[in-house]
Amino acid sequence: MKTINIALIGLMGSGKTSVGRRLACVLKRDFFDTDFEIVTRTGVTIDHIFDVEGEEGFRKRETQILKDLCNIPNIVIATGGGIVIKEENRTMLNSCFVVYLSTSIKQLIKRTAKSDTRPLLKYSNDRAKTLCDLLKAREGFYQKTADVTIDTADKKLYVIINEIKNAIRKEI
Ligand code: S3P
Repeated sequence: MKTINIALIGLMGSGKTSVGRRLACVLKRDFFDTDFEIVTRTGVTIDHIFDVEGEEGFRKRETQILKDLCNIPNIVIATGGGIVIKEENRTMLNSCFVVYLSTSIKQLIKRTAKSDTRPLLKYSNDRAKTLCDLLKAREGFYQKTADVTIDTADKKLYVIINEIKNAIRKEI
């Protein structure tokens, strides 16, 4: 039986959590979300961690959670959009089958428009520019870290899941 973990990467609003939850269900695996694990472990919101400890404090916690999750076999992990910026995280992700969920900036803006829990967007007065800048800075890391890239723009959830399942079948 294949026990390699499946990790989803991509920018905020790319659908990692909803795709991950459904994928885990279909593959009969447990599902974990790094942000959710941080919130449960600390008992406070991501926002609060950014306020008190800054982004650096949040990134340390994120790395610790990823380390813990990578030690659990056979799971699906949805990661925070910034997970790829640290080399240490990218190295850990090498032990997983990594799926990059890519989509258009237009979709990302639409999907994050109502979000008030993401500190990097919450304090931005130009969300479109912030998302563009983040994508520009991270795209190379997403591509380099991913085993497969799935374009999710305008696709129904079941189509995305089928594409990932086909990629898994071929690659692992
Ligand atoms: C972040 C993305 C967020 C969360 C934090 C930082 C980022 O997760 O980890 O707000 O740096 O892109 P999602 O990608 O799940 O929104």
